[in-house]
Amino acid sequence: MSEAKRLAGEKAIDYVEDGMIVGVGTGSTVAFFIDALGRIKHRIAGAVSSSEQSTERLRGHGIEVIDLNNSGPLALYVDGADECDPNKCLIKGGGAALTREKIIAEASAKFVCIVDPAKRVDVLGKFPLPVEVIPMARSLVAREILAHTGGQPVWREGVVTDNGNWVLDVHGLKIVDPVAMERELNQIPGVVSVGLFARRRADVVIVGGEPPLVL
Ligand code: A5P
Repeated sequence: MSEAKRLAGEKAIDYVEDGMIVGVGTGSTVAFFIDALGRIKHRIAGAVSSSEQSTERLRGHGIEVIDLNNSGPLALYVDGADECDPNKCLIKGGGAALTREKIIAEASAKFVCIVDPAKRVDVLGKFPLPVEVIPMARSLVAREILAHTGGQPVWREGVVTDNGNWVLDVHGLKIVDPVAMERELNQIPGVVSVGLFARRRADVVIVGGEPPLVL
């Protein structure tokens, strides 16, 4: 599977143009993209990073990491996903970086999602849906999610996000209307962000393979 991730990550370099500040996601697939970006670092102006993990890898390659407040709108964001449906709606946040990922996706004109073939599904929800919550609201949000969706929220104990918050993983969902579910869960006080990328979904999905499939 890591070969498929590498092929997807390297294919995404096709979308990088000279002088760009590139939005960079988080995860094992993105790590291959960052390594490939390192090989063409002289062509780009820098990167905006979605996590401490990606920041460290980018800096390791000598790529300047720029604050989103100073970069302006981005032309390109490249990130992985935990699940991807036929409409390019995604579940993300397996690595707990969903909030910063969502912010950078929103700030970017084009979102290129890089996945291995196992991430493709007909209906989202087999992968537990990550929800970042303010710590004091954990129980409240869990009860609300259960009442609204019937899904089973499980606290990802021991995990603290880069923003100092906690993560609930919601099991047992079958997400037939991702836009509606994203909107509904976003209304619950204490929810920081929901790992459903439906309102701002991917524009392009690259499925790693020989050759890569571009959707
Ligand atoms: C990070 O929080 C996630 O959104 C990742 O993008 C997602 O979990 C995909 O990770 P892999 O590329 O490691 O499978």
